[in-house]
Amino acid sequence: MNVLVTGGAGYIGSHTCVELLEGGYGVVVVDNLCNSNPESLKRVQELTGKSLKFYEGDVRDEALLRKIFAENKIDCVIHFAGLKAVGESVAIPWKYYDNNLNSTLVLTKVMEEVGMKNIIFSSSATVYTADNEMPLRENSRTGNCTNPYGWTKYMTEQILSGMANADKEWGIVLLRYFNPIGAHASGCIGEDPRGIPNNLMPYITQVAVGRREKLSVYGNDYDTHDGTGVRDYIHVVDLAKGHVAAVKYVAANKGCEVFNLGTGTGYSVLDMVNSFVSANGVEVPYVITERRPGDIGTCYADPAKSAEKLGWKAEKTLDDMCRDSWNWQKSNPMGYGE
Ligand code: NAD
Ligand code: UD1
Repeated sequence: MNVLVTGGAGYIGSHTCVELLEGGYGVVVVDNLCNSNPESLKRVQELTGKSLKFYEGDVRDEALLRKIFAENKIDCVIHFAGLKAVGESVAIPWKYYDNNLNSTLVLTKVMEEVGMKNIIFSSSATVYTADNEMPLRENSRTGNCTNPYGWTKYMTEQILSGMANADKEWGIVLLRYFNPIGAHASGCIGEDPRGIPNNLMPYITQVAVGRREKLSVYGNDYDTHDGTGVRDYIHVVDLAKGHVAAVKYVAANKGCEVFNLGTGTGYSVLDMVNSFVSANGVEVPYVITERRPGDIGTCYADPAKSAEKLGWKAEKTLDDMCRDSWNWQKSNPMGYGE
């Protein structure tokens, strides 16, 4: 069985390629490398001892997609390709709507033409409204997104579920990720953000490795056990395994289903700093600052539906996440380099 992985050179995509190759799947990647380095795919192949096929190009390029489907017998698509920087999406909304919506529209148009209608989409917990009770279930309220990035995830969910309603041949899985962190245990692949990291764990690791002076903890007056924001951090390898479970699910089920990929446990910013320090024996200086605009206090998943229907459950601990994030960063202080 062959899987086309769009955005496969990226953080979550590269870890998913490893799990797919190890699971015996054939892997074809299309990525325009706008936020990644082809070195990740080289390392995926070294790590697994298996090869994959790589097309460098844009998912919005219809002719390229036709060529990929003509040259390969694809059985399922995992669609990671997309832009994900929340702040940039506020500054340059058109870029986000164009990239994230048109990539899905062109991809599904070509899939329809070739009659291959199984797709797994990277959605996000950001589609849930801020006023929900915790934990978040798949039927919790969605919408009211606070930035264009979030709207592209919300709109893509609408587009794909509408297509599944209209045409019963589609098998669609929408995966709502919580907060992916960590790296492959080998330390060969990991997250390599460009510029100053927006997210917590890459910031912590860059402070620990000496690339940044100190962490700013955004607010300690939330209604949480220590006042700092609480999130559901999930190891990227567990997340990658969730995609393999979803590939099996779409092979057997038509229609559109949505699943949370989270652990069900929330940790605060200070929990994360303390766990990182004790797991790795390194210092992470920090200072408490103002809240970050747009942030909420607490967000964590109810992962019961994924356990029941996908047969998937996150297994790695917070210690694993902290250790593997650090192992990747210290072996690759400048990420994949240029
Ligand atoms: P990433 O930036 O590391 O990977 C995305 C990949 O897609 C990159 O390799 C990039 O070069 C490629 N890409 C982007 N636009 C493209 C296009 N038009 N054509 C071809 N390739 C293109 O990001 P990631 O963290 O691996 O995230 C993967 C997906 O999961 C994204 O859709 C993201 O929005 C979603 N997601 C990520 C998180 C997270 O915290 N990392 C959380 C929720 C959802
Ligand atoms: C971010 C995105 C969200 C995306 C999610 C998962 C924003 C505003 N939101 O959310 O759209 O779906 O990642 O990828 O970017 N923190 C600090 N200092 C830092 C960085 C973060 O204290 O330097 C805190 C935050 O306030 C938050 C927690 O750490 O409480 C996690 O932050 P982050 O990693 O950015 O994830 P989210 O806020 O969940």
